[in-house]
Amino acid sequence: MDGDVLLKNSFGRTGPKERLAELGTHLSFSDEELTSLKDSFLLPNAKLEEFSRASIESSVGVFPLPLGVVRNVPMSEQFVHVPLAVEEASVVSGASYAAKILSYSKGITSKSEAALQLAQIALLQVGTEGEQALLRQWGQVQDRLMSLLERMHARGGGLRGSEYRRLPSGIFVFHFTVDVRDAMGANIVNTAAERLAPLLEEITGGSRLGAILSNYSEQRIASAQCILEDRHLPRSSLGSQKIAERISQMGKWAEEDLWRAVTHNKGIMNGVSALALATGNDFRALEAAAHALASSMSPDSQHASRYGPLSTYEYSEGQLSMSIQIPALFATVGGATSHPVAQWSFRVLGINLKKEINAHMLNRIAASLGLVQNFAALLALVTTGIQHGHRKHDGNMSQDPQ
Ligand code: MEV
Repeated sequence: MDGDVLLKNSFGRTGPKERLAELGTHLSFSDEELTSLKDSFLLPNAKLEEFSRASIESSVGVFPLPLGVVRNVPMSEQFVHVPLAVEEASVVSGASYAAKILSYSKGITSKSEAALQLAQIALLQVGTEGEQALLRQWGQVQDRLMSLLERMHARGGGLRGSEYRRLPSGIFVFHFTVDVRDAMGANIVNTAAERLAPLLEEITGGSRLGAILSNYSEQRIASAQCILEDRHLPRSSLGSQKIAERISQMGKWAEEDLWRAVTHNKGIMNGVSALALATGNDFRALEAAAHALASSMSPDSQHASRYGPLSTYEYSEGQLSMSIQIPALFATVGGATSHPVAQWSFRVLGINLKKEINAHMLNRIAASLGLVQNFAALLALVTTGIQHGHRKHDGNMSQDPQ
């Protein structure tokens, strides 16, 4: 538009400092203010400058988040301390407080399914003949996939299935599923999909529209459960039975009300996404997959596949039972998991484990943490209210509740 400041193509070719300087000429900051912003926050040292430069394009520095640790999450076999990178007050302290209450239970049991990552190749102009040719040459396609995934097979993972679908518009979509073990799998399956596409075009006579993983992870789920006796809930004027009853009513509210379900799930992701950030995992994929999973929840059989809460609560005979499902997309290898802070987080998570943490364990921890975080929010909502915890942090205090 007329009068707009445009950044030249050379902006992408310079370095973070030069880009900051160029942007600075268009900003109403003094030189001192810009220098202080650069030295204290954006480019505080050469290592972070290199990290930002090596990670993304056109970088101008880093945007650090506070890193905290939720202490003593009672998994059934051991206590786990969970690093979270998050800017919101009360997330870490709320979870630590909830973890303490849940430690009076028999612990949080959890499961995580094999890391099955799906990829899609969409083709245009595949007629019935092309489809039949594909069926005839199915073995050749499988062989090609097996060889593309050779390194994954060597690591105990690899191809686990393939199929195709035709969409209402006629688009032909080929799916294949790979056990990606401890990786998130995006690079592995995207590379395989792109390399397989020409063979599919040749066999079917179709033309490639796109080849990419699916972030819908219905085959990659982690779950956690916990049962707490109501007498372990905090003593407040409401009484522990009423608190348990109301927490289970909060679950019902989320099941019956989209407006509430989204907020309920946001509270779960406060913990899960913060753990993803602390461990260098792809929090955007997790968020997308979590809300897609929530959309396939159908608590009421008459309302198949509507958006619902990722966790459920039941209260009967003095016992509050809670359970959760989240996408099991956490990885311990690949991408930003090699960042030194992510590596440190893995060590913290593994303090009470006798071996190195793997993706399976990390996904179980993530589900357990999601449940703890959700329980913390619901407990606060039915007792003190959520602002109580937040107010404690006004004036830059960061004390955990006792
Ligand atoms: C705030 O970040 C999260 C909550 O809104 C979650 C919830 O309402 O369950 C407190």
